[in-house]
Amino acid sequence: MHCGELFLILCVLIVKNASKNCIHRPQIHTLEGEPFYLKPCGVSSSVHKNGTATIRWFKGNASHGYGELNTESSPRITLHGYDLEFWPVELEDEGTYFSQVGNDQQNWTLTVIKRNEHSCFSEKLVKNRNVEVKKSLDIPCENPNYSELTNHTSLYKNCKEIVKPPMIPKDAEFGDEGYYTCVFSLHHNGKQYNITKTVNITVIKGNSKITPAILGPKFDTVKVELGKDVELNCTALLNKNDLFYWSIRKEDRSNPNVHEDMNKTTWTSEGKLHAFKKLKIRNITEKNLNVLYNCTVTNEEATDTKSFVLVRKEMADIPGHVFMRGIIVAVFISVAVVCVVTLCVIYKVDLVLFYRRLAERDETLTGNIL
Ligand SMILES: *[C@@H]1O[C@H](CO)[C@@H](O)[C@H](O)[C@H]1NC(C)=O
Ligand SMILES: *[C@@H]1O[C@H](CO)[C@@H](O)[C@H](O)[C@H]1NC(C)=O
Ligand SMILES: *[C@@H]1O[C@H](CO)[C@@H](O)[C@H](O)[C@H]1NC(C)=O
Ligand SMILES: *[C@@H]1O[C@H](CO)[C@@H](O)[C@H](O)[C@H]1NC(C)=O
Ligand SMILES: *[C@@H]1O[C@H](CO)[C@@H](O)[C@H](O)[C@H]1NC(C)=O
Ligand SMILES: *[C@@H]1O[C@H](CO)[C@@H](O)[C@H](O)[C@H]1NC(C)=O
Ligand SMILES: *[C@@H]1O[C@H](CO)[C@@H](O)[C@H](O)[C@H]1NC(C)=O
Ligand SMILES: *[C@@H]1O[C@H](CO)[C@@H](O)[C@H](O)[C@H]1NC(C)=O
Ligand SMILES: *[C@@H]1O[C@H](CO)[C@@H](O)[C@H](O)[C@H]1NC(C)=O
Ligand SMILES: *[C@@H]1O[C@H](CO)[C@@H](O)[C@H](O)[C@H]1NC(C)=O
Ligand SMILES: *[C@@H]1O[C@H](CO)[C@@H](O)[C@H](O)[C@H]1NC(C)=O
Repeated sequence: MHCGELFLILCVLIVKNASKNCIHRPQIHTLEGEPFYLKPCGVSSSVHKNGTATIRWFKGNASHGYGELNTESSPRITLHGYDLEFWPVELEDEGTYFSQVGNDQQNWTLTVIKRNEHSCFSEKLVKNRNVEVKKSLDIPCENPNYSELTNHTSLYKNCKEIVKPPMIPKDAEFGDEGYYTCVFSLHHNGKQYNITKTVNITVIKGNSKITPAILGPKFDTVKVELGKDVELNCTALLNKNDLFYWSIRKEDRSNPNVHEDMNKTTWTSEGKLHAFKKLKIRNITEKNLNVLYNCTVTNEEATDTKSFVLVRKEMADIPGHVFMRGIIVAVFISVAVVCVVTLCVIYKVDLVLFYRRLAERDETLTGNIL
């Protein structure tokens, strides 16, 4: 009993794998010029009941009747096992079809969509799919019904071929939105046919919360000068209702010079919410140096903090006042040298005379001695 069941399941699996899927949907849309088939469901069970396993196909016609289809009906239409195959389906094939196996009947209404000359797909046959941002975007090009016949598969995005491996699968970004078309090329009786399947990918904002985080290093040293002002900047990645604030020390709470920007600036990029907030410190004093100013973003699940510390700015290696004095002295000496040189040039003659007079006196002096 158990063994029999197992055997039956195995049979069903083999049958399923070896042939095309049967078609339940009574309304079918297909694209002009592509291979297509009809196959009734539950054939094996009716064959089981009724030894005669012949299938008959009928097509509805304008006069409300059904004409039987046979191998001579059209060179494009073939009867293959329980499948009615179209190589390929054309606009004139539109209509109602009806199959009969034993007492079992099944019917379908077939709509053939005209090929769009300017596009690689038809908008009427597009499947819409939403993908959350950052979630995996995969376009598996699978066509189980024709897998044995397909010898080449290519993928197009907005009708431009994309090289498969590095592109897909990937984490979805907003730029990935578009029409992805799988083209299955197959050969039948020496002719090439293409089957296209197109999915319209829309990237939607993730519903899942992100972990709030402050961007940049967790600790920042800012060089300042006493008496000057400084703005400490904090940027975070966060969810809409997360808290984002600067911690003001008790000592600073009464100090109007330390002031948190009440409004935060927010923007979204790649589907994520960013926020920016400043802490303004005016007229920096010794008290503001070497203490931590913290910026925090938090929600129920996570907290992130960044600390800033203000340190006194140093002027090169020389302290400021020494440096200034040095410059003043240097300038003073330069000016003095220039003045002396200028004076020497102007009073050149007088100088020579003066020198001579000195020399003469020397001579008279020496003369006197001698
Ligand atoms: C249309 O249906 C009638 C039966 O009502 C049938 O005799 C005739 O052959 C059908 N015509 C075609 C073209 O199938
Ligand atoms: C078996 O199929 C034939 C037609 O193919 C039909 O006349 C007969 O009634 C069927 N028998 C059963 C038991 O379904
Ligand atoms: C098509 O099949 C459904 C049930 O599967 C049936 O109700 C309907 O009458 C059939 N239509 C035609 C035109 O045979
Ligand atoms: C594809 O998806 C976009 C966004 O959801 C939508 O606006 C557009 O109408 C869709 N295209 C088709 C052909 O359904
Ligand atoms: C082909 O296979 C798919 C997936 O199993 C199925 O949904 C579809 O109805 C089958 N037939 C056609 C004509 O696409
Ligand atoms: C696909 O198969 C056909 C015949 O089976 C062959 O002529 C053709 O070269 C194959 N194409 C590729 C890309 O393998
Ligand atoms: C099938 O698609 C290929 C590209 O994938 C193209 O080169 C070829 O012309 C197409 N053939 C038909 C019959 O549309
Ligand atoms: C903060 O941003 C302002 C401009 O918005 C900039 O002038 C200032 O230098 C920044 N402060 C720090 C500590 O980076
Ligand atoms: C800032 O954060 C440090 C550790 O991250 C903590 O020790 C300090 O107390 C915090 N300061 C304030 C004012 O919250
Ligand atoms: C904060 O923003 C609101 C509206 O955007 C504005 O009315 C208000 O003046 C701003 N406050 C500060 C302190 O900038
Ligand atoms: C800056 O602070 C010092 C000491 O608190 C004070 O003497 C000075 O007047 C302040 N300057 C300005 C411009 O507020």
